[in-house]
Amino acid sequence: RVEGGTRIFELTARAGTTEFMSGTETRTWGFNGAHLGPTLRATRGERVAVEVSNELDETTSVHWHGMHLPPQMDGGPHQSVEPGETWLPAWEIDQPAATLWYHPHPHGETEKHVYMGLAGLFLLDDDASQAATLPSEYGVDDVPVIVQDKKFDDAGQLTLDSDGNEVGLLGDVVMVNGTVGAYHEVTTGRVRLRLLNGSTARTYSFGFEDRQVDLVATDGGLLPEPVRSDQVRLAPGERAEIVVEMTPGEAAVLRSSDPDLGGVAAPFAFGGNDTFDVLELRPAEGLEPSPEPEWVWEDTGLREADAVVTRSFELQGRKINGLRMDMNRIDEVVTVGDTEIWEVRNLHPVSHSFHVHDVQFRVLSVDGEPPPPELSGRKDTVYLEPNRTYRLIMRFEDYTDPDWPYMYHCHMLLHEDEGMMGQFVVV
Ligand code: C2O
Ligand code: CU
Ligand code: CU
Repeated sequence: RVEGGTRIFELTARAGTTEFMSGTETRTWGFNGAHLGPTLRATRGERVAVEVSNELDETTSVHWHGMHLPPQMDGGPHQSVEPGETWLPAWEIDQPAATLWYHPHPHGETEKHVYMGLAGLFLLDDDASQAATLPSEYGVDDVPVIVQDKKFDDAGQLTLDSDGNEVGLLGDVVMVNGTVGAYHEVTTGRVRLRLLNGSTARTYSFGFEDRQVDLVATDGGLLPEPVRSDQVRLAPGERAEIVVEMTPGEAAVLRSSDPDLGGVAAPFAFGGNDTFDVLELRPAEGLEPSPEPEWVWEDTGLREADAVVTRSFELQGRKINGLRMDMNRIDEVVTVGDTEIWEVRNLHPVSHSFHVHDVQFRVLSVDGEPPPPELSGRKDTVYLEPNRTYRLIMRFEDYTDPDWPYMYHCHMLLHEDEGMMGQFVVV
């Protein structure tokens, strides 16, 4: 609803049950319903507010992943919502169109809260995204695809037992929007899929066996131009928008297969040889051809020559720069308005998924080389291959606050909960 110029959303975290498999009631958590949450949507320039209520028996929080907003509204571990309480963050949408998402961020408990089903999409629109003539009828040719893997115990309940796997839980059931064996009836010549890897640990590689896709957007919005791709790799927390051409009357299956994890030691333990059918697209006979997308790209304006600070972050064990997360320690102090380079080094034979709150960054280089085209747009989360250095450029535009920090962390949620996270303030 809109009141006094503010668009107001309501999200209530609650426990319930979901029938994933017929005849079995699985205990789940959801926003407003029993599992997952509604898609929120707002336009650049709009003021939004969310009434976040917690009807669970435990403390939670709701973080707006990818959103540029004041730290007190960020929904990180410092903005906890106690059982029975309501929290009311409000901010102005001030960034390009993108597929963002929201999920809890309670200290040390994020993996469980997301895994139980607390997650949803937050879509942003702007003039450029509307001018880009991409398929944009929500649920028709513009389809949300939240991908999550789950593991069930013998009683049909969700289990987070990862058998001590260092990556976290790798479930053997992959769901789209909470549905096993998902399909979508397509009525248009092209369809746009908004992919979110909402899994706790698993990295996917999405593609079709019989066709390429156009990768049109990553975490923070459109790419400089569409990138023709066979496979799109997504680590936990990352998003991608792809446009797929349909063949009338012929089903096409989006699949995740053999993700290239980039030299991870023991890739099998990381799901490196797993293959899943994710979503079947069932186009009608005699489809209307969709128009070729026209392209509008808003430059990030992030130039290496403008950078005034370089910081380095070394990831090893469950630590960043040798330290585990401490709620009472500020790790980095950033000056507002500065453009910075964050040099992120993965010193581990395993992969991580590095995420920074508040900003969209651009990848300047990977091990000194220019990044591949899929990393040329706005990003807030990036897959870190083992033993590589990623140079990220970002600018901290506004919202100073010496007391309330933002987070940076690994988005593999077991790693995050075990302390692979740090805090920065903007002053
Ligand atoms: Cu998606 Cu700090 O989180
Ligand atoms: Cu975030
Ligand atoms: Cu990690």
